[in-house]
Amino acid sequence: MTNQLNSVYLNFCKRVLTDTVYDDSLQERFFTDPKGISESEMISVLNLKADVPSTVGNFWPQRAHTMIGLKRLDNLQLCLEDVLQNNIPGDFIETGVWRGGASIFMRLLLKEYKIKDRTVYVADSFEGLPKPDLSRYPADENDTHYKEDFLRVSLEEVKNNFKKYGVLDGQVKFLKGWFKDTTKNPPFEKLSILRLDGDMYGSTWEVLENLYDKLFSGGYVIIDDYALSGCRSAVNDFRFKNNIQDPIQTIDWSSIFWKKCTKPIEIGNTLERVDKYLKNIFKDIMTVYSERPDLQTAFPEVHVGDLYNLLIWSGKHGINEDVRLMANLHCTSFCGYIVKDQTCKMHLEILIIPKHSMK
Ligand SMILES: C[S@@+](CC[C@H](N)C(=O)[O-])C[C@H]1O[C@@H](n2cnc3c(N)ncnc32)[C@H](O)[C@@H]1O
Repeated sequence: MTNQLNSVYLNFCKRVLTDTVYDDSLQERFFTDPKGISESEMISVLNLKADVPSTVGNFWPQRAHTMIGLKRLDNLQLCLEDVLQNNIPGDFIETGVWRGGASIFMRLLLKEYKIKDRTVYVADSFEGLPKPDLSRYPADENDTHYKEDFLRVSLEEVKNNFKKYGVLDGQVKFLKGWFKDTTKNPPFEKLSILRLDGDMYGSTWEVLENLYDKLFSGGYVIIDDYALSGCRSAVNDFRFKNNIQDPIQTIDWSSIFWKKCTKPIEIGNTLERVDKYLKNIFKDIMTVYSERPDLQTAFPEVHVGDLYNLLIWSGKHGINEDVRLMANLHCTSFCGYIVKDQTCKMHLEILIIPKHSMK
């Protein structure tokens, strides 16, 4: 990320998105010409304190293009800028966009930074929430969001909102339909931002199940509705099932986020978890192995079992360091490869080298 940010402009856009400009003619001028407001006019608006509900996003606004409030938009900006700053690869997605405001902000930020190689994916039914699927998600039993006409916003209206900010272009892709379908075989390989705002257990679970693996280490998961019990249970269940230990950070009364970066595991975890974990690590190692003829010659055969044995061996010898290093393979700044140790027995060792020193 090299170019300088016009923070006044993005901050002003957040005020337009939350309908806290408090000057309709100025707002209308912005929608006619999104770059036509002078810096001093923008600063005058920023000097006005925004009302509390629009700051903390605790109501359904009549006119604003997002209901998430200024604080969560600030968090979104923080996460976006962090992945750009650290060159974490991947597109951005919001699942559950309503009038589109938070997704519009993602596209606006890319534009301000003149970034052309990332796309903003905008996923929604564009017809409101689904009826609870109680056979799969009993936690949604009392969820009545699907009855809310206020939450039905058509694709056409959302596109029109993008247009008002001057960002309806090829770097925005709309995924129309239910998350269970649209996130199953998504049209992208990697994500660096995964923002979930689907309210329900099912709508949260399906996105995490289908897309979490696409999120690059160093990227962010943002959960808008952690205050809602269904969503919270889905997040907690998913983190437990996948042994995600990345610390949860609170944004405000409703929302949380975490940065994806695999943490050390403990030897005492269940075998099932360890097994899955090792398989993931093994995949990463094999990518390196496949590019290294010298390793292939030295070790014509490499098996998951060998890694498993190493883990057990490390555990028995109380060498948790090895496990920690293996876990680090999932972080972008590290990579591992395989060497023979000096003893007579065949066993594998994982070396960690900074990624930048690799070819
Ligand atoms: C609370 S609104 C999102 C608010 C929005 N992020 C904002 O910035 O104001 C929830 C949205 O999620 C969508 N949604 C929820 N569950 C869904 C599902 N399973 N499939 C598709 N869309 C879903 C609804 O259509 C609705 O637009």
